[in-house]
Amino acid sequence: MKPHVVLYKSLSAPLMQRLEDHAQVTLIEDVKSPGGLARLRDALPQADGLLGASLKIDGPLLDLAPKLKVISSVSVGVDNYDLQDLTRRGVQLTNTPDVLTETTADTGFALIMASARRVVELANMVRDGQWRQNIGPRHFGSDVHGKKLGIIGMGRIGEALAQRGNLGFGMPVLYHSHSRKPAVEARFGAQYRSLEDLLKEADFVCLTLPLTADTEGLIGAAQFALMRPETIFINIARGKVVDEKALIEALRNKQIRAAGLDVFEQEPLAQDSPLLALDNVVATPHMGSATFETREAMARCAVDNLLAALAGERPPNLVNPEI
Ligand code: DGY
Repeated sequence: MKPHVVLYKSLSAPLMQRLEDHAQVTLIEDVKSPGGLARLRDALPQADGLLGASLKIDGPLLDLAPKLKVISSVSVGVDNYDLQDLTRRGVQLTNTPDVLTETTADTGFALIMASARRVVELANMVRDGQWRQNIGPRHFGSDVHGKKLGIIGMGRIGEALAQRGNLGFGMPVLYHSHSRKPAVEARFGAQYRSLEDLLKEADFVCLTLPLTADTEGLIGAAQFALMRPETIFINIARGKVVDEKALIEALRNKQIRAAGLDVFEQEPLAQDSPLLALDNVVATPHMGSATFETREAMARCAVDNLLAALAGERPPNLVNPEI
């Protein structure tokens, strides 16, 4: 008998076909709606595998899924899962690293460019019919090339950002990470700094680290106080790594110049968030990996992970190998 897979993210036709060749599939559309969550709960008792993203799979949901062997997350971040609990329950967790690295670094660089050169604000000025004369200092931005690029979290995405900044824009790279990265130091001349020194020195402070118990709230009022009025803050990691109230204060008080943010404490960002009232904020809708090519590659990777686990093989991207 085919294993039962509960899918809470739609797949392209070829991937759906591939999954259906090997599994009996229940698709839950719009899982975050009240009806969607109820349908998910109804389907969980049969589930051998789950595939989806952007939903917290917590203890009460797992209690409904006694047969569950694997959760295949269509994401690199695994902050929606309690790893220890999954391991204790004997549930494998897989993710989709590598395939989204370059695209997410592209997003990071787009935010660097957009916030430094005020692209969104000035484009809106044109669109609103407010471009009436040559622009002057009131609308000038800051250079990107040659500025110090500070990266906090030198994993794959951090490295891809370092490559863009250093080789493309001649930016000296500073980084802070839980361990030194000799290869990145050799390739891009990246220099290791303590967190405090990086915050003081970098012109761009970019977060590319995962959300964990150790990184939650890592950047708060004390850290913004170390930055300079010229500093531009970029977050393509997770909103909860930052104390958003402290960020808003730092932006309002011109403690830092601008921010480019793809992730927020609460997503979707509320329409009345003070961040949206600030001209010096570029806010995007958690779109780091959101291109046609990359989302398809992530979904393919997630299907591969899931099918391998259900076939009793070790899945390629197992997050809790101790299982
Ligand atoms: C990821 O893959 O973790 C992205 O942030 C999407 O959630």
